[in-house]
Amino acid sequence: MNARRETWRPAPSNLRLCGDEVHVWRARLDCDASTLEVLRAALSEEESGRATRFRFERDRARFAAARGLLRDILSRYLQRPASLIQFTYNEYGRPELSGDESGLRFNVSHSGGAALYACARGHAVGVDVELLRDDFASVEVAGRFFSAAEIRDLGSLPPHLLTRGFFNCWTRKEAYIKALGEGLSHPLDCFSVSLSPGKPARLLNTDRDPSEAAAWSILDVQPFEGYAAALAVRNSSPRLSFWDWR
Ligand SMILES: CC(C)(COP(=O)(O)OP(=O)(O)OC[C@H]1O[C@@H](n2cnc3c(N)ncnc32)[C@H](O)[C@@H]1OP(=O)(O)O)[C@@H](O)C(=O)NCCC(=O)NCCS
Repeated sequence: MNARRETWRPAPSNLRLCGDEVHVWRARLDCDASTLEVLRAALSEEESGRATRFRFERDRARFAAARGLLRDILSRYLQRPASLIQFTYNEYGRPELSGDESGLRFNVSHSGGAALYACARGHAVGVDVELLRDDFASVEVAGRFFSAAEIRDLGSLPPHLLTRGFFNCWTRKEAYIKALGEGLSHPLDCFSVSLSPGKPARLLNTDRDPSEAAAWSILDVQPFEGYAAALAVRNSSPRLSFWDWR
């Protein structure tokens, strides 16, 4: 799906999500003290415990904010207080709604002080956001994570497009495996995405049924300056909304 500038709007407190709709949310994790207090208050004991295990206060606060924001976002669809939402984890660590019959699916990604969320009903969704870093983007690193076709495509880019091409590939791959929910147990070199800047974002092929790639949409997202991000959804024509958490 083509990259284009999405419009991020302030979200209402109650939201509906049906059919082909996919909602993408962006948020800053470095909140003011009173917002952080409210977000922390909604966390479960287990989540508060996880937050304390980070060495630095900034990381403790960012984890608490990311999880508190997730609860707040989900509460707007479920019409249930954020603190009463319960999660279970699949065998690869993906949080999912516990015993929820509504088919609400979500995924979360955070990098530095930015977070991205996606929600859909009945469709697998995954998101990934990454801080753009020239020092990380290289054909050598790609050799450890990307498929042969992706390494070839990256190697053919002019040097000034290398960082963007690298992170296009990284975020699109990561969003796809996060939508599958299998984490890194899903081999990264057995499927390919497009990566050339300016060309449509696409899942090119998978290790599954040959028609499977066409069932997916991959979309570039630009939540904040200096970040790359992607959304993957198992729906060939999703209707997208972009919400700004404030
Ligand atoms: C855990 C993983 C799913 C994402 O990790 P990540 O990129 O470091 O982190 P992100 O911020 O994008 O996502 C983390 C969130 O994904 C969710 N998550 C955890 N396990 C997940 C899984 N198996 N599937 C989908 N989402 C998952 C959680 O909500 C988690 O947030 P939390 O820790 O605050 O609860 C996994 O894919 C991983 O370890 N990736 C490592 C990165 C890598 O090598 N990528 C190669 C790309 S080519």
